[in-house]
Amino acid sequence: MASTIRKEACTLVTGARSGLGRAFASALAAEGLRVTGTSRRSGSDAFDMPPEIAPLHLDFAQDGVEAFIGANAALLDEVDILVNNAGAGVFGPVEEIDPDALREQMESLAVAPLRLAQRVFKPMRARGRGTIVNVSSLAAEFPIPFMAPYNAAKAALSQGTRSLMLEARGTGVTVIDLQPGDFRTDFNTAMQRADEGDESRVLRVLDMVERHLQAGPPPEAAARALVRALRRGRSGTVRCGGWMQVCAAPLARRLFGDALMRRAIARYYRLDA
Ligand SMILES: NC(=O)c1ccc[n+]([C@@H]2O[C@H](COP(=O)([O-])OP(=O)(O)OC[C@H]3O[C@@H](n4cnc5c(N)ncnc54)[C@H](OP(=O)(O)O)[C@@H]3O)[C@@H](O)[C@H]2O)c1
Repeated sequence: MASTIRKEACTLVTGARSGLGRAFASALAAEGLRVTGTSRRSGSDAFDMPPEIAPLHLDFAQDGVEAFIGANAALLDEVDILVNNAGAGVFGPVEEIDPDALREQMESLAVAPLRLAQRVFKPMRARGRGTIVNVSSLAAEFPIPFMAPYNAAKAALSQGTRSLMLEARGTGVTVIDLQPGDFRTDFNTAMQRADEGDESRVLRVLDMVERHLQAGPPPEAAARALVRALRRGRSGTVRCGGWMQVCAAPLARRLFGDALMRRAIARYYRLDA
């Protein structure tokens, strides 16, 4: 398989104003691609994007993905590389999560990216080339306690992406399920919180989630992994992040199975303390 990076290729990165998306968009622009990046903000002064990125408004919660698809038909017909990155999490005990927040997580983290992938796939297949990168999460396979809607939505996105990999065989379209571990971004600041009460276990996990994220590699490391995957030009699941999360945990699960892995996760987050 050849590199899927072609100079000037039309590239769309969702959620490109901050964190991983910003690093992805900048790295792809540095490779010579023509990058459009989305944010919920609008107006040139509010966008705060690197100058090489063309800004575009996208808000799954406010307007919905269908409005974006309807308003950007010409761009979506032309997109050669789609990086479905936008997203935020909800934290809290499962019984405290607002049903609307549960629906919103499924909508913005699973339905919307799969809908965008569906929209660009047809013209890509007609051209006989293109790349779809769906940014799921290691949480799709190793659930984080008190993030049930997030874990569920990312698992749905990951499985939808793997299904598309099968259907894309022989079409010239490359499909990548990018699963980051912890990276140092503002993800937790943006995270919506259900009522945590004063249950020390919940607060302890929240504190650990925050510390793990801040101890993670910078977003530029994830961008390097993305560029490497695009250069390889092969469909598949690509994990990126710290060695323990990316190599040791999947190997341990393969060797010891799900039940033991669940015990290890509980221990990691000190759920039984
Ligand atoms: N950081 C990690 O450790 C980590 C690990 C695994 C997976 N991920 C995934 O990586 C992606 C990026 O996260 P990040 O860590 O870079 O967080 P971030 O810095 O908070 O960036 C999230 C981006 O998504 C956009 N966004 C959030 N909700 C949106 C919505 N409803 N509609 C449209 N855009 C929305 C934000 O746009 P605005 O410009 O409007 O704020 C922002 O640009 C997410 O899908 C996340 O689940 C992150």
